[in-house]
Amino acid sequence: MSHVIAPSRRVTTATLRALRQRREPAVWITAYDYPTAVFADHAGADVLLVGDSAAMTMLGHESTTSITMDEMLVFTRAVCRGAKRALVVGDMPFLSYQPSNARAILSAGAFITAGCSAVKCEGGRRVAPRVRAIADAGIAVMGHLGLTPQSLGQLGGFRVQGKTLAAAEQLLDDALALQEAGAFAVLLEAIPAETAEFVRERVDLLVYGIGAGPHVDGQLVIVHDVLGSFIGDIAPRFVRRYAEIGATTEQAIRAYAADVRAGRFPAPEHCYQMDDADAAELRAASRPLIEVAS
Ligand code: KIV
Repeated sequence: MSHVIAPSRRVTTATLRALRQRREPAVWITAYDYPTAVFADHAGADVLLVGDSAAMTMLGHESTTSITMDEMLVFTRAVCRGAKRALVVGDMPFLSYQPSNARAILSAGAFITAGCSAVKCEGGRRVAPRVRAIADAGIAVMGHLGLTPQSLGQLGGFRVQGKTLAAAEQLLDDALALQEAGAFAVLLEAIPAETAEFVRERVDLLVYGIGAGPHVDGQLVIVHDVLGSFIGDIAPRFVRRYAEIGATTEQAIRAYAADVRAGRFPAPEHCYQMDDADAAELRAASRPLIEVAS
C-alpha cells in the first residue's frame, strides 16, 4: 500500500525561488485582517505582508512608527487564519528589533508562533547583525531598502530614493550586507527602475519591489491603495487603483441610513414571524395591558 503524501500547495520560500527561476513575478499584497486575507488568498496572491503600514491604513496614525508589537500580532493572527495558500510575512515594527539581537529574535519568533513563515525588517548594513541573529535562530528573514518608512525623519519624508549612481551603489552595498547576514530576500521601495535592476543583477537574494519598476522578482502593493480605501494625503505615483471601496462603502452606509430614517428598513422580509396561533395568543395576552394603557 502506498502512502503518497499530496504535495503541499502552500507557498514557501522555495516556491518563490522557483518562480524566480521561471521568471514568473511573485504577487505580493499587504493584508491586515481575516476577510482581506481570505479574499487575497482566493485571488491567488503568493505572499501576504502584514505590514506595519497597518499603523496608517488601519489605525489612522500619521506614520508607521506608532504601531506596537501587540497590535501587529493581532493583525498577524487574523491574516494567518485566512491565508491557506499564500506565504505570510510579518513586518517587524519600529523598536522591535533595533535595540538588541535578543529583542530581534524574540520579536521575530512572536511572528512565527503567530503563524508567519517569514519576517521583514527595514535597513541594510546597519541591521545586518539583527538579520544574522534572526536567521541563526532558524527564521526566514528579509530586508527592506530604499524608502524605509521607519526612518522617515532621516530620509526627510516620503521621497524617492536611489536616484544617483552613488545612491544605487549604497543600496547594492546594503543588499549585499543583508545577503551575507542570511536574508532570503529584499524589498526595494520607491526607487528608479534602473536602480532596482542594477541591484537585482548583482545579488543572489530574491528582490521584490514596491514602486521599483518591473525588473524585480515580484511586485508588492498596499491593499488599501489598490482598493481605493486609503484615507490620507499620500498618493505615490506607483499606485494603480482597481476599485473604489472607500466610496462604495460610504455610499452603502448613506443608503442604509436613509432607509432607516425613512422607515424603509427593516422591511417585512427582514423580520422574524410567529406562527398564526402563537401570534393570536400573544395578542390576547397583550389586550389587558393595552386596555390598562388606554
Ligand atoms: O508596512 C508595509 O506595508 C511595508 C510596505 C510599505 C513596503 O513595509
